[in-house]
Amino acid sequence: MRLHESALSTDLQGRHLLLGVTGGVAAYKAAELARELQRRGATVQVVMTEAATRFVGAPTFQALTGEPVFVDQWDARVDNNMAHIDLSRRADAILIAPATADFIAKLVHGLADDLLSTMCLARDCPLLVAPAMNRQMWQNPATQRNVVRLRTDGVQILGPDSGDQACGETGDGRMLEAEDLAEEMTAFFVPKRLAGRRVLVTAGPTFEAIDPVRGITNLSSGKMGYAIARACRQAGGDVVLVSGPTALPTPQGVRRIDVVSAMQMHEAVIGELTGSGSPPRRQQLFISVAAVADWRVTNVSGQKIKKVEGKPAPKIEFAQNPDILASVAHLPDPPYCVGFAAESEDLERNGDAKRRRKGIPLLIANIGHQTFGRDDNEVLLIDEAGAQSLPRANKHALARELVSAIAMRLDRQDQKSEARDGR
Ligand code: CTP
Repeated sequence: MRLHESALSTDLQGRHLLLGVTGGVAAYKAAELARELQRRGATVQVVMTEAATRFVGAPTFQALTGEPVFVDQWDARVDNNMAHIDLSRRADAILIAPATADFIAKLVHGLADDLLSTMCLARDCPLLVAPAMNRQMWQNPATQRNVVRLRTDGVQILGPDSGDQACGETGDGRMLEAEDLAEEMTAFFVPKRLAGRRVLVTAGPTFEAIDPVRGITNLSSGKMGYAIARACRQAGGDVVLVSGPTALPTPQGVRRIDVVSAMQMHEAVIGELTGSGSPPRRQQLFISVAAVADWRVTNVSGQKIKKVEGKPAPKIEFAQNPDILASVAHLPDPPYCVGFAAESEDLERNGDAKRRRKGIPLLIANIGHQTFGRDDNEVLLIDEAGAQSLPRANKHALARELVSAIAMRLDRQDQKSEARDGR
């Protein structure tokens, strides 16, 4: 997965991460990981095992991170010879990537025979581990037992992935890609305000066909909707994303349903919200970010419309599309509904009128109407209590803020209905 570059720079801003590299061939991916974590705003301090330096040299990490790299427990650069304490006390988290089977076994038993293992034992911050090994080593009951023990000890295990291995075999044990690990690291720090909540998000434009090769669409890039879906997932939500045509990668851990037209989006959304199953998979939160076409073509041609010299231009006839958000808001026992609106004037008054018209508790209005395709946005939150503005920020940072504001309102609504039901 490749996320949009510049918008991620605040994902890990202010975080100080300790990246532990152990001796496996996946150590080469750790160089890319260090870069990726930095790109998201973190400072990265690398500590390597002696074996790791056989795969990648310390100067590589030093050059990438701009920080000295430590290998030796007795490193003279640390005044009091307490590198293991000094380094871990400054960290918000330790990430071991790659983590060999041997290092995992060491962690389980609390061995401390080098700087990295001693540091892990002496830490007072969270520990995350990205295993990387041959599939037989991964499947070995000893490794499986060790991983279970680490999880019980509160260590987070990231991956491993499945696929081709450096040894020529195929199976489980590959380290996750740098981008996926950085994504996991970002999610790790996001408060889990939507834990256990089912969330449905729509995003992107719709495309209304005129003939098999032509159609009507709009300039929505889908960036805001995808950022919202990603932030909901990072906040612990179980997220389904119904998306119109975009070129964006699916956010990690999100189930995506692709649609083309407004009618298909309507059907997919209503299907998700009223679907059968036991118990029914009902969403508690619906965030409608899609730029849905208001009209569809009723005289769609089955064949490409040809231009014929001397004949008038074809007449396109339209019918109004269903208002997806309003129809969800009017379902019996609807989810908490959030709308997005681009208004060009009198934002607060027009936004509030739209909120009431659609029958939804919260509307997020873009300040400035040219937001399509941009990486940043500035919005006004309008609910029954009034309007609150959020300052301009990149769409990922803004999405996190919005998700936390939405989660607060959702909790409040739950408390109200519990009080009403006398629970
Ligand atoms: N929306 C929807 N279905 C539609 C039109 C809009 O679900 N057919 C949702 C959008 O996803 C968004 C909100 O309604 O959350 C507001 O969209 P907007 O285009 O601003 O509203 P419209 O009702 O189309 O009003 P306008 O006449 O201002 O375009």
